[in-house]
Parts: sequence; C-alpha cells; structure tokens
Amino acid sequence: MQIIIYDNAHQVAESAAKWVKELINKKPAPVLGLATGSTPISLYKQLVEQHKAQGLSFKNVTTFNLDEYHQIDPLNPQSYRSFMDKNLFSHVDIDMNNTFLPTCAVGENPRVQGLAYEENIKKHGGIDLQILGIGANGHIGFNEPTSSLSSRTRIKTLTQQTISDNSRLFKPNEKQPTMAMTMGIATIMNARYVLLMATGANKANAVKDMITGGVSAMCPASALQMHENAIILLDKAAASELGEQNYYQWAESENRKLIEHYGYFHNY
Ligand code: F6R
Repeated sequence: MQIIIYDNAHQVAESAAKWVKELINKKPAPVLGLATGSTPISLYKQLVEQHKAQGLSFKNVTTFNLDEYHQIDPLNPQSYRSFMDKNLFSHVDIDMNNTFLPTCAVGENPRVQGLAYEENIKKHGGIDLQILGIGANGHIGFNEPTSSLSSRTRIKTLTQQTISDNSRLFKPNEKQPTMAMTMGIATIMNARYVLLMATGANKANAVKDMITGGVSAMCPASALQMHENAIILLDKAAASELGEQNYYQWAESENRKLIEHYGYFHNY
C-alpha cells in the first residue's frame, strides 16, 4: 500500500484527478472504475473543470461503477446512475453506451446480472484504475463487514450503520433502499490499480483498521493490503489514528525524488 497524507480534502481530490488524467492520456481505451458518495464529488468536479478548460477527453473511456441500489429506477434522483449523470457524465464527452453500473431491475435475476457484469468487465480488458471511498465500517463498494474476500458482483443487504450513515442523503418521506448490487471484493482486487480516497475524522478508525489491522472480512477494505498497486489518499483528519504518519510522510517525500528522477511509471 502506498499511503499519501495531504493537508486537506481538496488536495486529495487534486491528486486523484492527476491519476485519472494520467490514465486517460496514457491508454488509448482506458477502463475506469467509479464510486459514488460524498468523497469523490470533488474529484468529479475537477475532472469536469479539466474537460472544459484543458480538453481532457472521455471519448474513449469506459466506466464501471462499483454499485447501484437494487431495483431502483435509473431515473430516480437517488439512483447511482443519476448521481453519475449529475456529477460527471452529463458534463463531459463520454459515450453513455460505455458507462456501466451493476443494475438489477424488477424481474431480473441478481445472479444472472452479477455474472453478466463480471463478464462485461472482462470483455473490456479489466479495470485499469478503480476509484474507491471507504465506509465508516470499513466497507468498499457495498461490501459490508462479513463480505467474503473472494466475492464477485452480487446483491448485498446493507448494514444498519450504512443505512443510517446514508440517511442524510434521503428526505424524511423518501424510501431508502436496503439492498444493492455491488462489485465483489475479488472484482475490486482484479483492478490493475486501486485509488482509495478517505477524508474526514469519521473515517479515521476505518482507515486505521484498513491499513494496520489484520486482513479480515470484518473490514473489507483491509483486503487492499494484498493488492499489488493500492494507493491510499488521505487528508490529515482521516489519517489521524495512524501511528506511522511521520513514516508515511517521509516515505512519500523520498518517493517524490524517485518520480522527479525517473518520472511516473504506471503499468496500465
Ligand atoms: C459508493 C461506495 C461506497 C462509498 C462509501 C463512502 O459507490 O462504493 O463504498 O464509497 O460508503 O461514502 P462517502 O464518500 O459518502 O463517505
């Protein structure tokens, strides 16, 4: 794991945007894994700005989102499809036919849908760079604690903690879904690079468990300890429970020197 600690959430988003931009500029047909939630909103804002100001083009980009609520109408403003349209897709030149979410509509079989999503990712050559947030309970995607570390795209029942954490996004009279289709932990682990963004003090314990705890289904993000290319971008608040903060900061400044000398090398 490469742990990078920034002063604030804006810098975390700026850094994540650089990763996305590098992938888009480097690979002719990049495949990007996307997340929803509050954390990546500022990343998407920066990408939209770069599209408008600097011509960053999404024409050849294919995207796979981590998750989508079970049986939700894509036009429902609470759907993750609507979230992605609002925060990214409708502001850039992406071909909407190349944007995928793990959906399961009424009447569809979640098992069939899950397998088809996995096949579609494979058909596109796999995910180059997967953007992740982290839940306060250590979930990635909607892989809640207890999720198998070998899981694939499937339906998951949300925990009470996640339902209550996300209730801020729903109006009092609005029905909040309790199930979602999500990429599995093994699906996420197959991405060539994973870029996890965590900001705010409410993520500090989950971040500590992910980085320094044992690898366990009780903290799904801890599986990333076993990923060859996991980059963890934190603001100071999210890093506040880590005992090795000075080491990570020093290691990152040493790493910068290598980058200055050799340039970036990402093996997409
Ligand atoms: C959303 C997702 C979730 C969120 C996590 C953090 O697609 O996969 O794992 O990343 O719940 O959400 P925020 O960023 O709202 O704190």
